[in-house]
Amino acid sequence: MSSRNHFVSWSKQNEQASLDVSAVGDFSFQLRSGEWVDDGLSCSYNCAFGYSERRITTRIAEVLKDFPCASPKWNLPFREKQTERLLDFIALGEGRIFYTVSGAEAVENVLKIARLRRDAVKVLSRSASYHGASLGALSVGGDWRTEAVQTFEDWTVRIPEPSEDSQGVELRKIVERVGAKNIAAICMEAVTGSNGVFQAPDSWWQAVNQLCSETGIYLILDEVTSGFYRCGHNFAFSSLPVKPDMVCFSKAISGGYSPFGAVYVSEEIAKTFTEEVLPCGGTNYGSTIGIAAMAGVLDLFEDQSSLDLIAENTRIFEKLSKDLGNNSLVDQTRVVGMLAAFDLNQTAPSWQEFIKSGLHIGRSENRLILAPPLTIDPDILQRIFEKVNLVLEEIA
Ligand SMILES: Cc1ncc(COP(=O)(O)O)c(C=O)c1O
Repeated sequence: MSSRNHFVSWSKQNEQASLDVSAVGDFSFQLRSGEWVDDGLSCSYNCAFGYSERRITTRIAEVLKDFPCASPKWNLPFREKQTERLLDFIALGEGRIFYTVSGAEAVENVLKIARLRRDAVKVLSRSASYHGASLGALSVGGDWRTEAVQTFEDWTVRIPEPSEDSQGVELRKIVERVGAKNIAAICMEAVTGSNGVFQAPDSWWQAVNQLCSETGIYLILDEVTSGFYRCGHNFAFSSLPVKPDMVCFSKAISGGYSPFGAVYVSEEIAKTFTEEVLPCGGTNYGSTIGIAAMAGVLDLFEDQSSLDLIAENTRIFEKLSKDLGNNSLVDQTRVVGMLAAFDLNQTAPSWQEFIKSGLHIGRSENRLILAPPLTIDPDILQRIFEKVNLVLEEIA
């Protein structure tokens, strides 16, 4: 752990918040001191296929030869073809993709589109959520990262936790009070990620569907963390009784091999920009390297043996998470696919304690989060849980 000439994100700069990393293996990284650390969080949920996924690196190597850089305005058959594959994989029917370079920008752009199309500024969102570090994305997020900055709170209307409003009764009252015509969208993580792996009940999603179809309010889903098989299906929404108008993607879309993000926009919304300017864009949007990384991820999902491995790992992960939930220090366990939160009945061991034990995981106050690479070697997956148990034994 060291001091550096560049900032460490989301940290006091005098904290031991960065790591001296000298090498990466397949699913682990090596510290300069020589020890190896198993990655139980897929870096930041993005390196979902480890650090040496050939299908991704091969695609990137190819594009570096042919098209290392390209304007977002160039029509490239390569970009066109990979977008077609992405649309098939999303399977939401007709629609269009808008590419970005991050999850936050995916969210920023859908918020813009929703506000423009609805001619309304308010967005409904839940408090236990995170949608990115730019101001608009922060304004719809609600965790500690929102507090430090001035956000557009008067554009945001907080809704109760879906588990406490399972029929959406309070949600409907809020819409009536604020006025549907003033509301552009409901913006939600399909399954909350870093804020604790909370799922909304089906009855709540059905109430949201009903409300959106009655009022025209858009449903925006953020699948930045939950997407690309993290939650047991291609996307978390695939197993939910819900049809989003717009969906945000990032992280695993490129496996962490390139900064990249994307937005799905339903055809109904997309076609309104045929005669009108789409006021969204960025210099590096739709970068060919990002598209190539995404192509590698889609190649992986077309390979049945990779899907079988992910399914097997998901089964092992669910079982080991349930076993860990029996530890006397664990109060509550929530597991969805290969994403799990463990609420402890006391303060969780520090992040550094886990690193010392050779494990990288998510940790906040009394909560631990695990989201290992989907294609991890099952033996390493097993070892990750053994390490969590060992660290917990030390504080029991
Ligand atoms: C659910 C969710 N949405 C959006 C983002 C923002 O993504 P990025 O950090 O790529 O801007 C994150 C990042 O952690 C996230 O977890």
